[in-house]
Amino acid sequence: MIEALIPGVTEDVDVYLNGDFVPLSEAKISVLDRGFIFGDGIYEVVPVYRRKPFRLEQHVARLMRSLDKIALYTSNTAEDWQHLMTLMAERAPWENSLVYLQVTRGVAKRDHPFPNPPVKPTIFLMSAPRLAPKAQEINQGLRTVSMVDMRWLHCDIKSVSLLGNVLSKQYAVDRGVDDVIQFRDGNLSEASSSNVWVVKNGKVLGPQKDNLVLEGIRYGLIEELCRAEGIPFELRAISKAEVVAADELFLSSATKEILPIVELDGEPIANGAVGPIYKQLKQAYNQVLAAL
Ligand code: PDD
Repeated sequence: MIEALIPGVTEDVDVYLNGDFVPLSEAKISVLDRGFIFGDGIYEVVPVYRRKPFRLEQHVARLMRSLDKIALYTSNTAEDWQHLMTLMAERAPWENSLVYLQVTRGVAKRDHPFPNPPVKPTIFLMSAPRLAPKAQEINQGLRTVSMVDMRWLHCDIKSVSLLGNVLSKQYAVDRGVDDVIQFRDGNLSEASSSNVWVVKNGKVLGPQKDNLVLEGIRYGLIEELCRAEGIPFELRAISKAEVVAADELFLSSATKEILPIVELDGEPIANGAVGPIYKQLKQAYNQVLAAL
């Protein structure tokens, strides 16, 4: 029934909207919500393993940083956000889920400046089943194409205005590959919804945390895993030439965990096989998850 309303959605699970849990089919917001009209909002995606949100504190800290950067003020404390996300994870019909949270600047007459006085922000959470990355992706790796990063200059903000990311992912789909690797002024930024990592001479390199990339929660995790495994780790500008000549490439996100990239623009990365540093980090990642 719900699929007739929303293609692809088969379960009418409870979602959270502005203080209440209601079935997805009954959750309604105004067409004047600034999230709908302007993309004026922030989101988070938290992976849940056996009902435990993974690195919840870090996700909430990033949420609050993003809200701050767009001056979207709510009365919620970090503990409140953590509580809401934990509730959603516990209520989900799936043990392994993704909690999606979105906050927008609320409902007001369409006008670009912030409503003055401010209106009540819209707060929405939903859960979805979290499917583990496929064995084929882990063992064979992903194929990618390069593209110029055409997004705005505040990619550090986890904004719901994702048109640039949507178009870059569709660019990959249209070319029959898994994802894009984006470059800005000749330097690596990120994939369409993941961070990209380069391995060279045994060292893991990532783009520095600045306004041109979203600091994935896996930034901190990969740094910790590298330290524990004795793998050198460095964040700095990485040229396209360095990406093309990498020994290994991989990407990271809440949904994909870490996945190897074996092809860029039809050419293999190194010998086109999944590399040893990826395998070592994947094993270390799995150990962290198993210990949750
Ligand atoms: N995407 N870069 C971009 C542009 C992203 O959208 C994401 C996450 C990441 C990785 O961040 P993290 O490790 O915190 O998931 C990097 C989420 C999963 C999404 O939009 O669905």
